[in-house]
Amino acid sequence: MCGIVGYIGSQNAQDFVIDGLEKLEYRGYDSAGIAVNTGKDRFEIVKKVGRLQNLEDALKEHPLKGHSGIGHTRWATHGKPSDVNSHPHFNKDKTLVVVHNGIIENYLELKKDLQAKGYEFISETDTEVVAHLLDSLYEGDLLEAVKKSLKIIKGAYALGMMSISEPDRIIAARKESPLIVGLGKGENFIASDIPAILKYTRDVYLIENNEIVEIKKDSVKIMDTEGNEVSRDVTHVEWDMEAASKGGYEYFMEKEIYEQPKVLMETLNSRVDENKNINFDDAGLTKEYLEGVRSIYIVACGTAYHAGLVGKYIIEKKTRIKVDVEVASEFRYRNPVIDDKTLIIVLSQSGETLDTLEAMKEGKRHGAKIVAITNVVGSSIAREADHVIYTWAGPEIAVASTKAYSTQMMILYLLAIDMAYKFNKITREEYEHDINSLYDLKEHVEKVLEHSENVEKAAAKILDQHSIFYLGRGLDYMIAVEGALKSKEISYIHSEAFASGELKHGTIALIDEGVPVVINVTQSDLFDKSVSNIKEVAARGAYVIAIAKEGNTIVEEVADEVFYIPAVEDEYTGFLSIIIHQLLAYYLSKLKGNDVDKPRNLAKSVTVE
Ligand code: M6R
Repeated sequence: MCGIVGYIGSQNAQDFVIDGLEKLEYRGYDSAGIAVNTGKDRFEIVKKVGRLQNLEDALKEHPLKGHSGIGHTRWATHGKPSDVNSHPHFNKDKTLVVVHNGIIENYLELKKDLQAKGYEFISETDTEVVAHLLDSLYEGDLLEAVKKSLKIIKGAYALGMMSISEPDRIIAARKESPLIVGLGKGENFIASDIPAILKYTRDVYLIENNEIVEIKKDSVKIMDTEGNEVSRDVTHVEWDMEAASKGGYEYFMEKEIYEQPKVLMETLNSRVDENKNINFDDAGLTKEYLEGVRSIYIVACGTAYHAGLVGKYIIEKKTRIKVDVEVASEFRYRNPVIDDKTLIIVLSQSGETLDTLEAMKEGKRHGAKIVAITNVVGSSIAREADHVIYTWAGPEIAVASTKAYSTQMMILYLLAIDMAYKFNKITREEYEHDINSLYDLKEHVEKVLEHSENVEKAAAKILDQHSIFYLGRGLDYMIAVEGALKSKEISYIHSEAFASGELKHGTIALIDEGVPVVINVTQSDLFDKSVSNIKEVAARGAYVIAIAKEGNTIVEEVADEVFYIPAVEDEYTGFLSIIIHQLLAYYLSKLKGNDVDKPRNLAKSVTVE
């Protein structure tokens, strides 16, 4: 999604803004721009469609020299990607500039009003109304104009704004879209995400909804929308840039796949003490509370939703308590049955996904308890939830989620084991056995990662196909669904998952000579049926890539290729088979020459509906 960076200090603003925008490139964007107060009577603004490099090239020709500036990477919502639709937007005489993340919902109405007053619009964006609205309300004090504007604007926003006649300050505001302030020495920053400023400072203010902030080179003032000062503790960011850099890998996705043994253990250790006790006390999930719960929902989007499917499987298996998993964008509008005896577990890597955030608020309005499982400390979802359980995946930069997914699964397994024990569904011995099984995953995942080279070879064989089908039964199906999403989002090959048993009800008509079918066959009780499914597709000419447990060599007789994973108990195979799927998607994308980390049309955190 869009990114915002602003700088005010004594150094050259352009360098900091561009550097910050580079750090936000992973979020996905289609154009970029910058405005700098260069000491003239109007802002100098450069905007370019396409990669940030295009903007950087333009700035080489025409560098902007000044001590304050704001920049933006845009992910188009209103109007196609183009130079003119890029941010910053400005008023007619370029004395006021605005960058914006989010959507101004009443922009058409505002546009009409402003046009009636003689304002001319040059872009198709919703953001341009903010520039003209500020102009219409500006009487020499940008803060006052912003306060008045925010009473008129409806929608979601993080805004960065500057006036040419007030060179000593940037004004920013937040409602729903993330915004942080980085605190430097003799310089300060605004940004939509921490990596943008981490090179310069680890001390940040997390700006809350309905807050305005005035940033000067030596001071930062946070206010409510009336202008009353609000106090805020400084958040010190613990992780460093190394965690957000490629560390020798060609792509972030590759690095993040390989980090899984480590981050799975970090997530496990965050909740299991030295006496092998799982601790979720701070998540409010006591036995007393759980006894009173009438329904449990897991709500999420995309890959997080797929982790939720696995969560349902393991919680129901271990506790026999029913769990519903729902896509957040549907859940929020379908009037689900929720009351104060409902527990909603929301899953979100970024903690900023708007659909998930709004679904969660909907649940809250009806009295549900909200437990958020997220990877980003201080994110909107973390702040709005009643309780937060953090995954310890570290920064996930690649758009395709990998390590966030497996650490979300890890937390859900721990919840399932914890609940099962609290409800006497498992003995202490079984409880410890389950925890040990989770610890053993480190070694097993490392072993699966050794298949990398062969997965690359398999990817090369199916690279030119138009479709790939992913199959599985039970837990294997839930993993297949995530495998298909990984493949389609970065390889751009049509990839679809089906429950193996469902194939004969229609989809098998699509199986033809050479069509790749990737099938998980790791569930013992479903093994024979899955082998039959392989035979069915093989008989119709499919090229079958199977993922099976070591020892099940019979699969070799029916499949074209087999990747073996360690023979763990059935309920843990998902942590291992998913690694093969992630590697396969990675190599398909890389071999096709795609931008693995920044696939087309996608953004890392989806902050629009
Ligand atoms: O940040 P979130 O976990 O809330 O994001 C949810 C989805 O947008 C995300 O998982 C998306 O599906 C990824 N591109 C999948 O790789």
